[in-house]
Amino acid sequence: MSRRPPSQPPRNGRPPGNGTEAAPGGAQQAREMPPGWLPEDHLFVDDIKKSFGPTKVLHGITMHLRRTETAVIIGGSGAGKTTLLRLLIGLERPSSGHIWVDGVDMGALDDYEMNRMRQRFGMVFQYAALLDSLTIFDNVAFPLREHRKHMSKKDVRDKVVGMLNSLGLENKEDRMPSELSGGQRKRVGLARALMLEPEILIYDEPTSGLDPLTSRMVDDLIEETRARYKVTSVVISHDMASTFRIAHQAFLVIQGRVVASGTPDELASGDNEQARQFIAAAGVAPDHISRVNRPALADSGKGDGGQVIEFRKAAE
Ligand SMILES: Nc1ncnc2c1ncn2[C@@H]1O[C@H](COP(=O)(O)OP(=O)(O)OP(=O)(O)O)[C@@H](O)[C@H]1O
Ligand SMILES: [Mg+2]
Repeated sequence: MSRRPPSQPPRNGRPPGNGTEAAPGGAQQAREMPPGWLPEDHLFVDDIKKSFGPTKVLHGITMHLRRTETAVIIGGSGAGKTTLLRLLIGLERPSSGHIWVDGVDMGALDDYEMNRMRQRFGMVFQYAALLDSLTIFDNVAFPLREHRKHMSKKDVRDKVVGMLNSLGLENKEDRMPSELSGGQRKRVGLARALMLEPEILIYDEPTSGLDPLTSRMVDDLIEETRARYKVTSVVISHDMASTFRIAHQAFLVIQGRVVASGTPDELASGDNEQARQFIAAAGVAPDHISRVNRPALADSGKGDGGQVIEFRKAAE
């Protein structure tokens, strides 16, 4: 595929909160969408198979990830969740099938285009994955220094400090990662992921290793970030309480296949035996879970939908 002409740049560098230009009827509507594409799709994972040598890991995964919603991918150990995540962000190529982003086939991108495409994704790693030898400021500024070399030092400082402040991390910029709590480090990882203003945020096991109270704060943070920046969120999780709180849709992956999908309540009460067993084994009673207010952006203007939630300063 030839290099994208300058008149059709990939859509990135979008100002925060300005997610509506990609709504159905927007610019990408002119592009011919692939068969199976649904109007509300942001990512369409289209019959992905992945093998490593003789080992078949993914056996034909199909998922519609809707714009500005939160999709949670759940499943047992070894099911293929991390493999799927690596495919989504272009770190691996599928053995067959396609991943479409706004109707663009990631598999058809050359290295230059893939590099641009990756900037549309933000990744919040398990355990935050901060660079221990750098200050909090330098960790968060890292993507800007790599990808926004034209930015002045003042603009970088303003952006980093502004983001840290909005996430309740005032006056932490000169600290080292080891001086912060696990929950604070998660927020630093989120601040770093938001620096390039991604459209799609991917979280790998965001609540693992955290106590229940901090886990619920991270749930709130995921929802607040989604509502504030209008990002499409994809969360890999083992945490069923978190799934019930934040997911618009959940996908249960077992042995490389999506065996059930729907709202968490549909999975819990539907007739899919594997889904009901998985949820029951987690010891989670859906009726007992307090939900975060997670309106889909599509609800904007109706009732309490689409509201912008201010970040609250989370307790340490
Ligand atoms: N690079 C690789 N080479 C060979 N096999 C691999 C590779 N990456 C993953 N696998 C295999 O694919 C399967 C799925 O692994 P994956 O890491 O995607 O699982 P997971 O669902 O993320 O599990 P967990 O919940 O334990 O993190 C495993 O059997 C693993 O051994
Ligand atoms: Mg994994």
